[in-house]
Amino acid sequence: MKPMTVLTVVGARPQFIKAAAVSRAIRRCHREVLIHTGQHYDANMSDVFFGELDLPQPDEHLGIGSGTQAEQTGRMLAAIEPAIERHRPDVVLVYGDTNSTLAGALAAAKLGVPVAHVEAGLRSWNRRMAEEINRVVTDRLSQFLFCPSDAALANLRNEGITAGVHLVGDVMADVLRLMLSNGHHRSPLAGELGLDPGRYLPATILRAENTDDPMRLSALVESLGSTGEPVVFPVHPRTRKALDRERIVMPANVRTIDPIGYVDVLALAKSARLVATDSGGLQKEAYWLGVPCVTLRDETEWVETVDVGWNRVVGADPARIRAALDAGLKWPTAHPPLYGDGRAAERIVEILNEL
Ligand code: UD1
Repeated sequence: MKPMTVLTVVGARPQFIKAAAVSRAIRRCHREVLIHTGQHYDANMSDVFFGELDLPQPDEHLGIGSGTQAEQTGRMLAAIEPAIERHRPDVVLVYGDTNSTLAGALAAAKLGVPVAHVEAGLRSWNRRMAEEINRVVTDRLSQFLFCPSDAALANLRNEGITAGVHLVGDVMADVLRLMLSNGHHRSPLAGELGLDPGRYLPATILRAENTDDPMRLSALVESLGSTGEPVVFPVHPRTRKALDRERIVMPANVRTIDPIGYVDVLALAKSARLVATDSGGLQKEAYWLGVPCVTLRDETEWVETVDVGWNRVVGADPARIRAALDAGLKWPTAHPPLYGDGRAAERIVEILNEL
């Protein structure tokens, strides 16, 4: 087999985590060029993940930064195109559903370079989300569609996409396994915050639909307050701005902290009573760690976690949030395996070898 050049585009937190599994597998027999768009740029939003996950440093950092949807995506597109031309890859690999994903896929497709999409086929059916638009378009442009679940496969089939579709499992499961087996899920953070195992909730709120609607954001914060239980809330910069802008006061039981790295997230989630989140990754991580999840959104792409009873999707309605948080011991004990066996990255590389 002739080694190929894979150009990987990353830019936002979840993509650094996913790349940790796949980059390792690619580099065993191929050359990888890692491009960081710079969508996330603060040290605690980017550098910390490269260190913790032993990710190779990017070959190119495009330094795009923040902006409106169009500005950010447009600047990325213009910067990724010459990078692809410089490195002449055999395939461009993108992850998930961020603006970096869409820009990478679109730049490659227009240059006639095959696109491989990791986490293909997920749908929220909510076109008001930038992420949903990014997913739908990226899937349309991809030659390799790597699905984490049967539901993702079925979504693509319903849209008439069947060529190049592969069920490989979730690369985040690969990363989590690796972290747990290396003991990289222990951190002193919970102790430093005075949290007792099983008696606190980590909460995250970062989706635009939650942060950019003041009523919704206030309702979510109030709901976290209504539990009276210690809540630790690592605040994404987007959320920090919204909280400051709207002068939302934190309830006494809710402790905000700066964004944290992956090891701290895993450690906080692992010992929690349950997690409350609007993040996609944390819904699955909670499941894999055997911790119930309350999803602060109106829908989820990770429907299997709901079907097995470990995830409740409650939107921003205080009564529903409170009921789910209070449900306590009424969560199920059956815990079937979901999203693969932790070998998704290996399968992805085996399939790319067909190139
Ligand atoms: C992006 C993704 C989202 C993903 C999330 C993970 C899109 C459309 N959204 O959302 O799918 O779940 O990343 O965290 O791509 N900011 C900083 N420092 C940083 C990065 C961002 O201060 O290092 C602030 C800026 O004010 C910026 C805002 O956060 O405008 C939002 O950042 P952006 O990258 O546009 O989207 P996210 O909300 O992070």
